[in-house]
Amino acid sequence: MKAIVLEQFGGVENLVYKDVKMPEIKASEVLIKVKAISINPVDVKVRSRQAPLAEELAKHDPLILGWDISGEIVEVGKGATRFQIGDEVFGMINFVGHGQAYAEYIAAPEVHLALKPENVSHVEAAASTLAALTAWQVFDQYGKLRPTDKVLIHAAAGGVGHFAVQIARHIGAHVIATSSASNRNFVLQLGADEHIDYHTTQFEKILCDIDFVLETVGGANFQKSVQVLKPFGTIVTLPSGHTKEDEFKAREKNLHACYFMSVYSNDTDMRHIASMLETGVLKPYVSHIFEFDEMAKAHLQIETGHTMGKVVVRL
Ligand SMILES: NC(=O)c1ccc[n+]([C@@H]2O[C@H](COP(=O)([O-])OP(=O)(O)OC[C@H]3O[C@@H](n4cnc5c(N)ncnc54)[C@H](OP(=O)(O)O)[C@@H]3O)[C@@H](O)[C@H]2O)c1
Repeated sequence: MKAIVLEQFGGVENLVYKDVKMPEIKASEVLIKVKAISINPVDVKVRSRQAPLAEELAKHDPLILGWDISGEIVEVGKGATRFQIGDEVFGMINFVGHGQAYAEYIAAPEVHLALKPENVSHVEAAASTLAALTAWQVFDQYGKLRPTDKVLIHAAAGGVGHFAVQIARHIGAHVIATSSASNRNFVLQLGADEHIDYHTTQFEKILCDIDFVLETVGGANFQKSVQVLKPFGTIVTLPSGHTKEDEFKAREKNLHACYFMSVYSNDTDMRHIASMLETGVLKPYVSHIFEFDEMAKAHLQIETGHTMGKVVVRL
């Protein structure tokens, strides 16, 4: 089969389209013919060896990046009972681990999958995996967002952010969203109640008494976000690389909770996402679709740091 192999860590020229062996499935796995793959910042960070996960993946040969897929089941392992050949499924496979999604076929634990709702395409379903799972787990597990809460969502126009706005709004919370001015209408249409252009307004100067912050930017943004929380508020931060001082500032504020989050593959959460897609509560926005041999372009788009919604590669 064809796959995109990462020949060595570095630039996009190291993503090579080539023939590799078909994956063999374990008893608890299914084999999926991949129809669409979504690309995330972590793909880029691993490719360029900027994520700790790169060190773990370095031992794999061939090393195949990617975790987010939608496709059709073509083989079922002896001990797998949940799906049948022909089922259309989607999920985030083996995160944190060697997902191997940049391939025509992928071996996936059945417990990382949900049935794809009929009303969404494979492109839309693939888009609604790692980023959607992150947004869901932030509000459902890491912190419990309540309908009475005021929530600040940073990078609301991005992959995680655009799902987070929709989920927070569905829960009933008051949503304050940051993005560039050009994405203002986009985030308001997603359901944000208030918009802050982070280029022209320092949110920490105008906000206070926030119950919950989803911090997706990192660096100085974390401590500024802690500043606007009310005592016993909650902050969940996504980018890795927080400092001891960040932890100290969070403790000093006497927060209810401060989480440095890592999303994880989980079929219960995938079924929640499937249900929200089916009922229209959640709508993925796919701003860029590339063909399989255009993986480098997909990575370069993510690298801009200004992607609206999601980037998907179609097979
Ligand atoms: N720990 C975990 O489990 C986990 C899970 C998922 C993601 N992440 C991390 O979370 C981060 C966000 O992921 P993502 O998939 O949402 O990324 P993304 O889709 O690439 O985010 C792009 C968005 O970021 C916005 N942005 C850039 N700088 C900003 C700033 N200073 N303030 C507000 N918005 C800003 C851009 O908006 P404009 O174009 O309007 O500027 C753009 O829409 C990444 O670092 C990713 O690796 C971690």
